[in-house]
Amino acid sequence: MSEISVLTIDGPSGSGKGTIAQLVAKKLGWHYLDSGAIYRVLAQAALKHHVALDNEQQLAEMAKNLDLVFVIDNDVLTVLLEGGDVSNLIRSEQAGNAASKVAALPLVRAALLERQRAFRQLPGLVTDGRDMGTVVFPLANHKVFLTASAEVRAERRYKQLKEKGIECNLPALIAEISERDERDMQRQVAPLRPADDALQLDSSAMGIEAVFKHVSALCTEV
Ligand code: DC
Repeated sequence: MSEISVLTIDGPSGSGKGTIAQLVAKKLGWHYLDSGAIYRVLAQAALKHHVALDNEQQLAEMAKNLDLVFVIDNDVLTVLLEGGDVSNLIRSEQAGNAASKVAALPLVRAALLERQRAFRQLPGLVTDGRDMGTVVFPLANHKVFLTASAEVRAERRYKQLKEKGIECNLPALIAEISERDERDMQRQVAPLRPADDALQLDSSAMGIEAVFKHVSALCTEV
């Protein structure tokens, strides 16, 4: 994996990896893959077509044929499922939880592997998820594992939801985040864990600017 550079940013939900990945991709002019969005869209497709979230065979079949399109325009990522805009729908806590369930199924992960690898195109790729540096792009040039305490991540989420005028409850958010972390870390295939060669950053006490500086300093060859 030498000629097309890849930067992977893995970490638990709410660690800020998506924000940082998009900022770095913009700075470098590289492509961006939000791998979590693929699992979120698959879970959404399952709900839409009344497929149970533990029906591994059928979900893997759906994953292979998933009609999913990402459009990035003016730095805004729009996600289309079967031509319909699901960008907002897939961002709820329930959608994240459903994504975590379908993502635990080995056949589903296998079915989505090549689709994710196809995003590696010139001039380079920045990608965020749980297993980008360990499984999908194990030979990536640069790897980051970004984390933050569950409390800090829940507080960030709480603020975001409040700003959108969505009622929420902090203890419930902490519990949901911890439950999702646990499922993502304990699953048998591609669990959430840092790659051995990843730079590990704890963003609990860091602002976005500071994390961005650290991460973009890794990719100075461009
Ligand atoms: O990054 P996110 O919160 O959008 O991800 C939603 C869920 O998708 C996450 O809880 C686990 C799953 N996921 C995964 O298993 N592997 C990835 N590379 C990305 C996400």
